[in-house]
Amino acid sequence: MSKQFDVAVIGAGAAGMMCAAVAAQRGRKVVLIDHAARLAEKIRISGGGRCNFTNVGATPQNYLSQNPHFCKSALSRYTPQDFVALVKRHRIGFHEKHKGQLFCDESAEDIIAMLKAECDQGGVSWMMPCAVNGIGKSGELFRIDTGAGEVLAASVVIATGGLSIPKIGATDFAYRIATQFGLRMVETQPGLVPLTFDGGASQALSALAGIAVQAEVETGVKKGRGYFLEDLLFTHRGLSGPAILQISSYWRPGGALSINFLPEVDVAEALIEGKGTLKKNLSNLLAQWLPGRMVEGWLELNGFDGAARIADMPDKGLRQLGDSLNRWSIRPSGSEGYKKAEVTLGGVDTRELSQQSMMVNSVPGLHFIGEAIDVTGWLGGYNFQWAWASGVAAGQAV
Ligand code: FDA
Repeated sequence: MSKQFDVAVIGAGAAGMMCAAVAAQRGRKVVLIDHAARLAEKIRISGGGRCNFTNVGATPQNYLSQNPHFCKSALSRYTPQDFVALVKRHRIGFHEKHKGQLFCDESAEDIIAMLKAECDQGGVSWMMPCAVNGIGKSGELFRIDTGAGEVLAASVVIATGGLSIPKIGATDFAYRIATQFGLRMVETQPGLVPLTFDGGASQALSALAGIAVQAEVETGVKKGRGYFLEDLLFTHRGLSGPAILQISSYWRPGGALSINFLPEVDVAEALIEGKGTLKKNLSNLLAQWLPGRMVEGWLELNGFDGAARIADMPDKGLRQLGDSLNRWSIRPSGSEGYKKAEVTLGGVDTRELSQQSMMVNSVPGLHFIGEAIDVTGWLGGYNFQWAWASGVAAGQAV
């Protein structure tokens, strides 16, 4: 026999649990359905196991979307301070790490337990692990075909996230349902992901693997332009670290990155000025600004002899070296893909949804929330803030 609910939330991750708790505490009869055996695996592994659960400075400017205005309403109605108040109510210790990023003192498990407790308080029913085979609509009701029989619901909220990390249960379920109901999609791409280089470039750069330096990175044009000043890490396959993860969300295949390893110094000027006054060699001079291994590797990569006295070098060569450090232009061949990406860019086109309720304009009762939608945050707690805010927006409307 079919089970009937007011609301069926599919996907018991960050957004889904938040939405279910809010709807259930408003008195709705809610069921949460998820195919995974373990609850909220992405929260568990987030922030190195400590969950960077929000960012105190989150604003719509920290999000990428074809429609940058869409996220404003939900973000302004459920703010980082609202989530912090919830965390405090559950007596979870937390601290600010860097640039407004809030982390649990103990473990990401505390956030999962908190959301579970909020769901329990509203009396949410659970179907988990439970496969969802399909969704149809007949009359006013949605019919959800699950591995545990048919579920009927007046409202369905799709909270199954994006494609990142298929190993822990990510699927294209949300996109399939969106397509089935005739909704437009924004092409997806891995975001917050290390960038890679092929063949020669990768081999040349591998000598620098393991070196971390602060750098200014830029890419894109006009509206889609990204700029970050963060740590950059050379790896055996390419580039990683916060600066690269951030810029990867703005990078498009075939595009170039411009990297400045010394934004505070005009290196060419400093080298040329140093000619008259210094007896130093290239390695010594650069080592005042950059780690020794980076200096040696960089000089070798660019064909300079570290032992050469700058006084003996032509200005042209010094300018080339300065440019390579202040304006390194490099074209990644690709990224590490969804298996390493923290998020998925693109997804359900926001033009199909109400920014107040996350409901599909053309299908009353059907909602999409969280990462499934074409709203993607920067690194630093912004993606969870979107999951909470969009979850609350739908939870208050269903
Ligand atoms: P989420 O992925 O959380 O949940 C989707 C749920 O749907 C899952 O439980 C899944 O099992 C279920 N599901 C999927 N397909 C299904 C199907 N076909 N049938 C049934 N159920 C299905 N963000 C941040 O702000 N701070 C951080 O510290 C981090 N750290 C981080 C680390 C790593 C390694 C990753 C991969 C990601 C992050 N993120 C992050 C990003 C953040 O985890 C992500 O944006 C949110 O979890 C998205 O929340 P959702 O609820 O939309 O999807």
